[in-house]
Amino acid sequence: MAAAIETEHLRRRFGARLAVDDVSMTVPERAVYGFLGRNGAGKTTTLKMLLGLIRPSGGAARIHGVDIARDRMAAARKVGALLEAHGFYGNLTGAENLALTATLLGAPAREIDRVLEIVEMRADAGRKVAGYSLGMRQRLALARALLGAPPVLILDEPTNGLDPDGIADMRGFLRSLPERTGATVLLSSHLLGEIEQIATHVGVIHDGRLVLEGPLSRLKADLAPEILLRTDDDARARTLLGGRSVSPADTGLAVALRPGEDADQAAAALNQILVQAGLAVFALGAREQSLEDIYRRVAAPAYPKAEAA
Ligand SMILES: Nc1ncnc2c1ncn2[C@@H]1O[C@H](COP(=O)(O)OP(=O)(O)OP(=O)(O)O)[C@@H](O)[C@H]1O
Ligand SMILES: [Mg+2]
Repeated sequence: MAAAIETEHLRRRFGARLAVDDVSMTVPERAVYGFLGRNGAGKTTTLKMLLGLIRPSGGAARIHGVDIARDRMAAARKVGALLEAHGFYGNLTGAENLALTATLLGAPAREIDRVLEIVEMRADAGRKVAGYSLGMRQRLALARALLGAPPVLILDEPTNGLDPDGIADMRGFLRSLPERTGATVLLSSHLLGEIEQIATHVGVIHDGRLVLEGPLSRLKADLAPEILLRTDDDARARTLLGGRSVSPADTGLAVALRPGEDADQAAAALNQILVQAGLAVFALGAREQSLEDIYRRVAAPAYPKAEAA
């Protein structure tokens, strides 16, 4: 797979602070790449550099092979963007704001209806943006990013301010976009659960450094599942399973799988050992590791749980 976005040793300094430190990331074509990091990690700064809005202090970035420093306009033409500060004109309507961008892009007027339809904002498109709610502004910003059907979308926290229905709609839309249009999506979030539900690929940024990157499926496979079990005598169970790595879990015990071991086979084998020894097995099953587990290992130990949406 060719890369839609590639950075090499990208850096950005603000005074003494290195906001982005040696970031080399690869976003494959047609990926939905979740760029994950806590507040202040460097997500927005990285995305702004990719959009040519701020200059890197070092390193390089390419969008579909076009170097953003050498040919900023050609790179920008390939990208639709949504950033925190939308910069809409409050005294113009939603449709008028989109018309300004469509004119700049040389996109036909029917594009405005198309993108308003996608974000379900046709009913409010005739109202002044000054009277929009936060979620409505966010939808309008996504509509603007979609104008002209750019091959690359760069979205900074796109679900910010959306209600649960809006978040679900946005998720479904972004997830299906690569297949429907061939586009590549790079989106940032501080919510693990959200990335896990949308992304095909993940990059984790922590203190300005990219600490982890890869397909979501591979990252999950790298962390073998555990078998969680509970018996009437966990202390004895632990002794019986002495040949394995066993640790206490919230309730009962967690048994690590051996490299390459099948979870179902392991569960059956463990069950047999315990039952044959006369223990009552109350519960036994595989637990898949989530992105949250991955994040805990590489970054912050006390990362807040993703909000339920
Ligand atoms: N214009 C600026 N001047 C000085 N420091 C800045 C500027 N922009 C960002 N920073 C600093 O760079 C670091 C990274 O900020 P950035 O906005 O990229 O984080 P983020 O990952 O987008 O966080 P959030 O989740 O809060 O949006 C922070 O320490 C921030 O204070
Ligand atoms: Mg940010």
